[in-house]
Amino acid sequence: MERSPIETPLCRQLGIQHPIFAFSHSADVVVEVCLSGGLGVLGATRMFPEEIARNLADIRSRIGARPFGVDLVLPQGMPERNNREDIEAALPEEHRAFVDYLYDKYNVPRDGLAGPRSRFVRSDEMARRQADVVLASDVDIFAMGIGSPPEFISAAKAAGKRVLALVGNPKHARKALAQGADILVAQGHDSGAHTGPIGTFSLVPQITQMAANVPVLAAGGVATGQHIVAALAMGAAGVWVGTAWLVTKEAHTPPKMMPHLLAANSDDTVITRAKSGKTNRQLRTAYTDEWAAPGAPEPLKMPYQDILVGDLLGAIDRHEIEPLLGTGLGQGIAWFTEETTVADVMRRFVAEAAESLAQLQMLGNAVPQTEGTS
Ligand SMILES: Cc1cc2nc3c(=O)[nH]c(=O)nc-3n(C[C@H](O)[C@H](O)[C@H](O)COP(=O)(O)O)c2cc1C
Repeated sequence: MERSPIETPLCRQLGIQHPIFAFSHSADVVVEVCLSGGLGVLGATRMFPEEIARNLADIRSRIGARPFGVDLVLPQGMPERNNREDIEAALPEEHRAFVDYLYDKYNVPRDGLAGPRSRFVRSDEMARRQADVVLASDVDIFAMGIGSPPEFISAAKAAGKRVLALVGNPKHARKALAQGADILVAQGHDSGAHTGPIGTFSLVPQITQMAANVPVLAAGGVATGQHIVAALAMGAAGVWVGTAWLVTKEAHTPPKMMPHLLAANSDDTVITRAKSGKTNRQLRTAYTDEWAAPGAPEPLKMPYQDILVGDLLGAIDRHEIEPLLGTGLGQGIAWFTEETTVADVMRRFVAEAAESLAQLQMLGNAVPQTEGTS
């Protein structure tokens, strides 16, 4: 394996070439990242346990012994049972009427199918069943987004998995460290999907300082090799990237959505609670605008919002209802203007990082020596 210009000790610990970690819902992206020298992590939180098992086995069969990961979102305060009827019964009439209005106004077919958010209820029961499959698999890394409950961390460690916890503020980082997380992802405000209020530049150095010997990956807005070098300069052991992969062929982004992503600038993303009930950075669409308009109801809490809008969002995706068609999307999208491949993104990241390092090394030489002081 050729030595990476950005190799860090974490690369040697894990047996990867570049300290580039990729979050994606697409198994094809995960595979290609691993084959390109990074580490792919499959977002599996909306998959049934048997789908997770199938995907993990498929990825393993395509990458051999290379390490890879799986990510589950494990928020606190969810209902115990996966029972949609209980949640449906608690949905306010005003909110149901607003969803009906969206179906009618945009001619979204009522096809009677669930979407990823509503195929089951985010619940303690489902989280346990999903985690059981992860623990029984040979996946190397168990990543936990939005909360890393101690019982899941200890079970993962007992099963020989490395635990990676996503954190958006120092308080959560302290907790994850105390509970024994092996790797932290410091995910700043710029990032796609669920995100907190602290910007990447403010967050990452606070977390690297606090984490001492525990490796930290910088996330949120990493879109070039220069960002990777900046992350390493802030003490990170690598980067964790989500948005970049959405413009790759391996992501299987819906054809009607792709042009919107390629045209998007950083300010074409907005923070909304209208997808899941928690603050989530999304491509700005008619869907996010409708929920932000005067008179729209306040989105419900998770998992009520998931169930309220889950079928509608599923139908929007299946039928590609363009004005409403959206995705989690970070501010780094401004750097991606052409459809590409995972291997090309990886090559560009590494080449730009090498160039950036070379420029930094020249900095001292480029500054003219002045004599005396003024
Ligand atoms: C479409 C999309 C979906 C995401 N879903 C999840 C998720 O299910 N679990 C999770 O831990 N992080 C999720 N994330 C956040 C990523 O793990 C990552 O932290 C983030 O994308 C990094 O910032 P970036 O988008 O600027 O690259 C998602 C990100 C995107 C873009």
